[in-house]
Amino acid sequence: MKMWSGRFRQPLDPAFEKWQRSFPYDKRLLPFELAASRAHARALEHAGVLSSEELGEILDGLNQIGQHAESSPEFLNDPEAEDVHHFVEKKLATLIGESGYKLHAGRSRNEQIATDLRLFVRAAIDELQNLLADFLDSIITRAESAGAAAMPGFTHLQPAEPVLVAHWLLAYAEMFLRDSSRLGDCRKRANLCPLGSGAIAGATLALDRRAMAVELGFDDITANSIDATSDRDFALEFAQALSLLSLHLSRWAEEMILFSTPACDFIALPEAYSTGSSAMPQKKNPDLLELVRGKAARVAGCSTALEIVLKGLPLAYNKDLQETQEPIFEAADTVKAILPMVAGWMRAVEFNFDNMHEAAQSNFMNAWAAAAYLVERGVPSRQAHEAVGKAVKLCLERNCNLQDLPLPDLQAINPAFGSDLPGRLELDEVLAIHDVPGGTAPQRVQRALQQTKEHAAALRSREPVPAR
Ligand code: ARG
Repeated sequence: MKMWSGRFRQPLDPAFEKWQRSFPYDKRLLPFELAASRAHARALEHAGVLSSEELGEILDGLNQIGQHAESSPEFLNDPEAEDVHHFVEKKLATLIGESGYKLHAGRSRNEQIATDLRLFVRAAIDELQNLLADFLDSIITRAESAGAAAMPGFTHLQPAEPVLVAHWLLAYAEMFLRDSSRLGDCRKRANLCPLGSGAIAGATLALDRRAMAVELGFDDITANSIDATSDRDFALEFAQALSLLSLHLSRWAEEMILFSTPACDFIALPEAYSTGSSAMPQKKNPDLLELVRGKAARVAGCSTALEIVLKGLPLAYNKDLQETQEPIFEAADTVKAILPMVAGWMRAVEFNFDNMHEAAQSNFMNAWAAAAYLVERGVPSRQAHEAVGKAVKLCLERNCNLQDLPLPDLQAINPAFGSDLPGRLELDEVLAIHDVPGGTAPQRVQRALQQTKEHAAALRSREPVPAR
């Protein structure tokens, strides 16, 4: 039976009828639709609309639908179902007879889909948080085992200053911790129950909205029925959070690709996650990283599609909202598939610490430390900068390092240079002077590592994040 044929004189154009169905993709919402339907059925009984016998039959029918769907996926092949709500209504009537049609009393598909999608987003966030926590763990573990190893730090992709490998990896941990906290925020706003909002104006029966919310594990009920039936901010926030997470993954992948090229040779690509070339026998290509970078485009597309669907909608429900489903499914599926891959990659990659160490001592990355040395001796910073710049120019002419310049040549540039300069330009010394919270001095990085671990553990257990 159709859900709405009463007022129609003509049948639907068959092509249109098929085209407008959402069941091919919203069938995945079935577990949420069933849970929300159970809560609604109980509210109907409480309101005196269903007898306790009818409630029992309906709950039994809903359970059967869930079991059939799990045991035989063909059960979901229903070319006539318009959407998941229609599917449940039809199957319920087939299973328990006419009383199945009583379930729809006092509710609308507008509040049902809003509820199902909130439940979907909540469950997806919980799953993603676990996967993200595991990826973070893989980064933190590698940072921990990198100890005091150093590498070049780049700005403008030009050698800037040496940093600890652990400091570099913890920069990525910060990005992904923010992503985790963003998903946590999104979950709070998603976890409100629209049931009882009706089609737009609120239910016409005395349904206990709070009881339905509690049964479904929502934190509270939505405040306004017009908003609740048309709001998809939670879906957009979810897609945007995933888009930013994918953007971070893409930046991470890009840098790993860069550092794996023979020109850098800082990391050796794990063979288990790389492929060869059908043409060039010597190749080992970073396919996993490239696909991670490429898939960020897809997730950004999902987020953009949602934003554009929503931007011109008048209140309240409009069928355009059906188009918000697939982008959130695709964004969630894409990121869920990526996270275990990148965690595996991170655990398997080899760092070429010797090459990193050597590179960290090249290209005058101790020049700022030389300027800091002069400033310490009372030279105004602009003059110190100028003096070290001249010293670098001299080194470029002589093809040597700053430490190799004879003291008289240095003192000719600025008399504040002393014989202790070369020692101060050694890698360990250069790292040690960045001794501020958040800096790369080894003891600071050690502390940061502990704080990052605590932060990650707190997010995992959803406690408030400890202050730094
Ligand atoms: N399949 C629809 C959707 O996803 C369900 C809500 C339909 N409501 C309506 N008034 N036609 O949005």
